[in-house]
Amino acid sequence: MSLPALLVAALLALQGSTGSAAGGEQIFRAGVSPRGTPIIATMGAGDAVPANLLPCQNCHGSDGRGRREGGVQPADISPAALRRPLQSERRQRPAYDSSRLRRAITMGVDAGGQPLDTAMPRYALSLADADDLLAYLAQLDEQQEPGVTAEHLRIGVRGAALTAPPQEIYGRRVELVALSRPPEPGDNLLLLIDASTEGDDSLTAAAADELPAIVFATNRSDPGRNGFVITAAPATRQRALETLATSVPAPLLLQDCRDAAALTAAHTLLLTDRVAASCELQRLAWPAGLSLRIALPAPPEAALRQAVAEQTLALAVTLLQRAGREVSRAALVAQLQTGREFSLGALPALHWNATRRYGLDQVWLLRLDHPDGRLVPAPGWMAVQ
Ligand code: HEC
Repeated sequence: MSLPALLVAALLALQGSTGSAAGGEQIFRAGVSPRGTPIIATMGAGDAVPANLLPCQNCHGSDGRGRREGGVQPADISPAALRRPLQSERRQRPAYDSSRLRRAITMGVDAGGQPLDTAMPRYALSLADADDLLAYLAQLDEQQEPGVTAEHLRIGVRGAALTAPPQEIYGRRVELVALSRPPEPGDNLLLLIDASTEGDDSLTAAAADELPAIVFATNRSDPGRNGFVITAAPATRQRALETLATSVPAPLLLQDCRDAAALTAAHTLLLTDRVAASCELQRLAWPAGLSLRIALPAPPEAALRQAVAEQTLALAVTLLQRAGREVSRAALVAQLQTGREFSLGALPALHWNATRRYGLDQVWLLRLDHPDGRLVPAPGWMAVQ
């Protein structure tokens, strides 16, 4: 080697790996080269298959820690484990450096020169692809933050159809995961947005997984440590009716629809949306002059919830930008509970803080004066003290 070439090599070695972690993530998770170069995996018996049939993640897990499966124990290949010498009953090896790591992946030889078990395939990688893969492996420990990958911030969505915003947030894109059930830990989410009329089970599941969740409405009286409810608390709906009871003729606050069966005199029936949903309103005895007031978290139109969900996603993007490069669930919760006012769609401005987790102090009131009549907003939004 000529002297200048040696110098270049030395400089490159000093710089360390120049690969792109984002490209490496593709190889690790999907077995696909970011350059489109074919990657071949050779298995124990010598069979060669495209690596997309055998991505590293399948055996070593998304965090590289390795999960035992069918008697085979894939090694822990997190950076911390590879930096340490290994002393196990079955085998021992010194610590890895990057050239030995490259050799392990391409030739199946460990840091001490011993052949690895044939359950570990050998990968024919281009130099550039190997650089990318090593760059990704080197930051695997940082991948522990749920819902945050080298390329994506994962947000789960229920009860609305959203499209991922085009902008990057510190080099990552928002990836939306449409859910038709409560979130599970395996969904690997950073945030859940639930725009359905009742986010109760979302809040329960999110609380169990410490997943930050923004839900449109709930009947739960405690949204949990990471739960944020856009509309008012169930207790606020109840209080609105109690306030109303002081100003309407012959008020009757219904806690249960069965109590309505014996209606004889004209009343103003006051009920929450939950009680109303359990009543067959047309079947009510309807003495002349009877009038109904129903307290809802918000106007019931699905289009409104869809619009609020879109605004909530836009808000999440803004807050993720504020949370900075080291984004995490905790950083996002901190941004949500600053007490700042947010405007979401057609709703009144709302705010959350560390102890206040229902955004609105307003409820939406509807009135019905005749069994065949139409529900009309009256007065519509009502502020509750
Ligand atoms: C089919 C399952 C499987 C796949 C896919 C797989 N590995 Fe492995 N890997 C293993 C097993 C099993 C071992 C442990 C071998 C042993 O104990 O001798 C291992 C060991 C290793 C080691 C050595 C660790 C040590 O402590 O010596 C490294 C490094 C490694 N794998 C990296 C990778 C990378 C990178 C990929 C993807 C390009 C990959 N593996 C894909 C099963 C797999």
